[in-house]
Amino acid sequence: MKDLQNNAIKVLNNNWKDKFSIPCEKLYPFQWFWDSGLIAIGFAHFDMPKAEKEIETLLDAQWSNGFIPHIIFHTESDSYFPGPDFHRSDLHPQSSKKYKSTGMTQPPVTGFVLQDLYRISKDKKATLKFIESVIDKVYKNHEYFYSQRDPKNEGLVYIYHNWESGTDNSPIWDDIWDTMNPPEYTFERRDTTHVDAAQRPSKREYDHYLHIIEIAKQNNYNDQKIAELSPFLVQDPLFNAVLLKSNQSLIDLYSIIGNNEDKIKQLQKWQKKGTESINSKLYDSELGVYVHYDLRNEKLLKHVSSSSFSPLFANLPSKDVANKMVDVMMEKFGNPDQYLCASFDPTSERFNPKKYWRGPVWVNLNWMLYHGLKQNGFNDLAKRMKKDTIEIIEKNGFYEYFDSRKEEHNNGKAGYGGHNFSWSAALLIDLLND
Ligand code: DGY
Repeated sequence: MKDLQNNAIKVLNNNWKDKFSIPCEKLYPFQWFWDSGLIAIGFAHFDMPKAEKEIETLLDAQWSNGFIPHIIFHTESDSYFPGPDFHRSDLHPQSSKKYKSTGMTQPPVTGFVLQDLYRISKDKKATLKFIESVIDKVYKNHEYFYSQRDPKNEGLVYIYHNWESGTDNSPIWDDIWDTMNPPEYTFERRDTTHVDAAQRPSKREYDHYLHIIEIAKQNNYNDQKIAELSPFLVQDPLFNAVLLKSNQSLIDLYSIIGNNEDKIKQLQKWQKKGTESINSKLYDSELGVYVHYDLRNEKLLKHVSSSSFSPLFANLPSKDVANKMVDVMMEKFGNPDQYLCASFDPTSERFNPKKYWRGPVWVNLNWMLYHGLKQNGFNDLAKRMKKDTIEIIEKNGFYEYFDSRKEEHNNGKAGYGGHNFSWSAALLIDLLND
């Protein structure tokens, strides 16, 4: 295990670019929002200054309305499409003048990441001082979400693009692609020059992705216009669970810091409303898990994915609901011939164990589910989640995602996508030290 941990440290140090980390070479040459947060958790175990710098750089790219972009383009790189000239963040009047970025966001992990840094720190006083210097920016990011992304005032925020979900090409989105018919764009993909196309989204999927961005750009990334016009408008259980988890972390941290009663009260209000709404609107008692709600077409997208279990991470389900969720996890994802936890229902005909978010196991989701299971008292299953996560990395290396079928792992070639992938390394370090 010592070697594994040392190799993970090497991966993180190699992907460190002076003030932020890339997820991996070639495929992802910039800073990504949720990657950045999860990477900081890994650094916190052996190099706290880097963990802090990572977060500081991310927050330095925040827009004046509180928005944090999903990619910050620190450098010019032609190994990635679509780059800064396509995204054109400058169209938004409040975008950063210092950094080019995308005009979309990603699951807001920063709040809970700050609490993880505090948990891991050996010098709590110094870490608290750092947290004090950045926490208001994270609060402002939450304020952005609740004021700009919740048109019906439900305490649930929407995402307007599949890339905002983090689960980019999940089969869940197929239901939405069926409602759209975008033009066939001409563009040069770069991802498929680095990674086997069989493991990446299709050309037609990219047409959809670009089309949604075109509509947002035509409206200068104005949130109200996007809510009105975007063909993709979804309340995502993972995104909202992460936001609620981060709310709670901000409440806890502000309580330790003291003198922030107003902010704590506001966070508690968001927390109460969000928890009630996610439980009443996104929990589907028929399936026994949380699902996505398509706000544009006003319907539930009834599919079971790893995101369906993420509310456990934020301690949102009641005991009965949590029991039911775990039954579903065991029944659909927990066969002994499968590693936990496939990103999409292995019993569905849309399941594809090699293709990005259509089936493979992801370390970030496993890490969240591990904590969710443990916090809710499902200790045996939590142990299996942790063991499986360590084992797939041990057998294959620090890949971006992994085949869920155990038989595929016999030759050490069941890791897919990017190699020497930062969050796989970062969260492995955290699991090994848990
Ligand atoms: C990609 O390029 O596939 C990224 O995941 C988008 O965020």
